[in-house]
Amino acid sequence: MNKTSPVSRSGRFAGGPAADVAQFTESIAFDRRLWRQDLAGSAAHAKMLRRAGFLTRRELQAILRGLAAIGREIAAGKFRWQPELEDVHMNIEAALTRRAPAGAKLHTGRSRNDQVALDMRLWLREQIVKLAGELRLLQRALVRLAQRERAVVIPGYTHLQRAQPVYLAHHLLAYVEMLERDAERMQECLGRVCVCPLGSGALAGSTLPLDRELVAKLLGFVDARGRPRLTQNSMDAVSDRDFVVEFCGHAALLGAHLSRLAEDLILWSSSEFGFVRIADAFTTGSSLMPQKKNPDVAELIRGKSGRLIGNLVALLTLLKGLPMTYNRDLQEDKERLFDTADTVRAVVRLCAAMLDHTQANRKACQAAASDPALLATDLADYLVRKGLPFRQAHHAVGALVALAERLGKPLDRLSLAELRSVEKRFGADALKVFDLKRALARRQITGAPGTREVARQLARWKKIFG
Ligand code: ARG
Repeated sequence: MNKTSPVSRSGRFAGGPAADVAQFTESIAFDRRLWRQDLAGSAAHAKMLRRAGFLTRRELQAILRGLAAIGREIAAGKFRWQPELEDVHMNIEAALTRRAPAGAKLHTGRSRNDQVALDMRLWLREQIVKLAGELRLLQRALVRLAQRERAVVIPGYTHLQRAQPVYLAHHLLAYVEMLERDAERMQECLGRVCVCPLGSGALAGSTLPLDRELVAKLLGFVDARGRPRLTQNSMDAVSDRDFVVEFCGHAALLGAHLSRLAEDLILWSSSEFGFVRIADAFTTGSSLMPQKKNPDVAELIRGKSGRLIGNLVALLTLLKGLPMTYNRDLQEDKERLFDTADTVRAVVRLCAAMLDHTQANRKACQAAASDPALLATDLADYLVRKGLPFRQAHHAVGALVALAERLGKPLDRLSLAELRSVEKRFGADALKVFDLKRALARRQITGAPGTREVARQLARWKKIFG
């Protein structure tokens, strides 16, 4: 297998690398995924070389035809990838040169270092655009579920202890907010991805008069006014993987958000909570216990966040000690990036599908939300309205909670006399506080889980989605 690569080793190296060195260093096993981007980048580069006078019209045509034919071969699964040619760039260039001698001119003013940086940017641009669409669908699925179950009230929790009542819709819309920030971050990241590094060469640009602007325009790396967006420092351009780290960082955070949503669904679908039912298609049984219905999809959504975080850490570790500029270590960025993009997109899609097949168990939610202790704060607010400073009101209601516990009855069953034994300001209307419907109507301020406000938020999101 000691074949020599016709592209990179022809002059400098007499023999080829030993088999396991070749296997250790090749990236074709994974970077062949970049073939479309590699072809597009090469076509743009060739068109520029023609304009700059380095290719004849015929040579350009031969190159473009050759690249298109290679694309068809790869798409049809007929292309013979050669591991001894190391990576996607050299495989394609060698195949091109076999077809058209002009292929030997394609690498004019170009290095695999700026080429791979370009391919990654092109690839990631596509992924972010797709992910953005999928994220929107997930937000819509959350809003749909919130809308379907808009009458359902559950306890809101802090410290996983019952705290105050909220609409299930309000809880779900919290995730819509998180995902909106994720979407914004991805858009910002996209802006930094869409900058053209071609023309940076190996690290020091080129002595040839390359038209970098033209290449950027051909590849769609332009600003809102159509002006080309170019990297401004050749050394930075070939060693920069910040856009990969950023994407993986944002994806890790998105994954953490969905891990939390999954955890809520897992808890809620347990017998202990029983707030929701996830459709059978998104659960599995146990091979041993016939009664089991396990929320595996939700568990894996939670679990996959581990990968996303791991990929981010791997990338930062990879980069932190690299001297300028390109180092082969950078080849290790690809599998982490591919895995993150695949994983985060699958998680987003599966999460949306699962939510579309999830329903609230209205009875269980109502039973939990009717716990009068959830409205202890409302009782304190009652006293505040009567003029008592909040700290004292909090103390008084605390005493009532203790009294109710001692008497073995729920908070809303205390008599007026019992209330007044703790605080004289309680009037006959005090127990009305425990009317859940009224309590929810009262939460009117922006961002609160009140009836009108939640309806307003639902309408706001529906308007945003168009
Ligand atoms: N396969 C390489 C990578 O993924 C491409 C760039 C190689 N450049 C080089 N000078 N060896 O990073």
